[in-house]
Amino acid sequence: MLHEKFAEGIISAKQFDREDIAYFLNKGKEMISERNSNLLRGKILATLFFEPSTRTRLSFESAMYRLGGNVIGFHSGDVSSIKKGESIADTIRTVENYCDCIVMRHSLEGAARMASKFAQVPVINAGSGSGEHPTQALLDLLTITEEFGTLNGLNIGLMGDLKYGRTVHSLSILLSNFDVNIYFISPVELKMRNRDKDFLQQRHMKYKEITDYRKILNILDVLYMTRVQKERFIDLEEYEKVKDFYTFRENDLENTKDEFRLLHPLPRITEISPGVDNSEKAIYFKQASYGIPMRKALLAELMIE
Ligand code: NCD
Repeated sequence: MLHEKFAEGIISAKQFDREDIAYFLNKGKEMISERNSNLLRGKILATLFFEPSTRTRLSFESAMYRLGGNVIGFHSGDVSSIKKGESIADTIRTVENYCDCIVMRHSLEGAARMASKFAQVPVINAGSGSGEHPTQALLDLLTITEEFGTLNGLNIGLMGDLKYGRTVHSLSILLSNFDVNIYFISPVELKMRNRDKDFLQQRHMKYKEITDYRKILNILDVLYMTRVQKERFIDLEEYEKVKDFYTFRENDLENTKDEFRLLHPLPRITEISPGVDNSEKAIYFKQASYGIPMRKALLAELMIE
């Protein structure tokens, strides 16, 4: 059933209802303890990355190898025929013949959706401009549920670049399926876009928008920080104004609950000072490790007939 629902792939967090999320969190959890298998032996994954990536591409590739499958692909638009002027559509219509699933990252918001229309194989959106990054959001939820055992009732702050950050867009969409209290924390220039908020309001999500995180730090269970997305700014002077707006420091930890956890999809630039890394409350590298089990669960679901 799920296989049918995701036959075109995973393009947006909006595809997932509460049951689907529970299903993948369960599968992801199972995959944490299972290291290697041959579930996808003989299958080929194509990773087409037109934008930089460390965790997403390498964890997709590692997940595929750990499932016994193979990987082809490129990690820069400069080395594919796109550089010669080939369209995304033609690239996809070619690559789909060489693989069983495509993972794609592109600077255009609609790129993954368009690719899924041209491909006979499932397409996974590994980041589409400042739009969405649904598989990151799923691994974020796996991280939170591994720590707290549940999502319901949690006070969760999403902080930083809520305008251009695709991870927070997908994460807030997934969270709108649950009974959570959300705090959108950002400078005014980087507030969540109205179209994203409209969607969350339709889903009756409870959220507040604030600028000073210190005011609510003592009630938060989770603080999910993000990088200011330099590459999305048209005017770099605007970026300079907001790039150092927040820096979470060691002394901030003193005002947090014992169970407080600090997450970040990474890469981190200056928004979390390195001294915070040693705290048990800082779990962003553990979070990055969950990219493997969650992506194994997704790849297995999409490629096993
Ligand atoms: C994020 C991305 O690419 O959107 N990184 C990731 O996939 N873990 C976050 C970012 O680049 O800031």
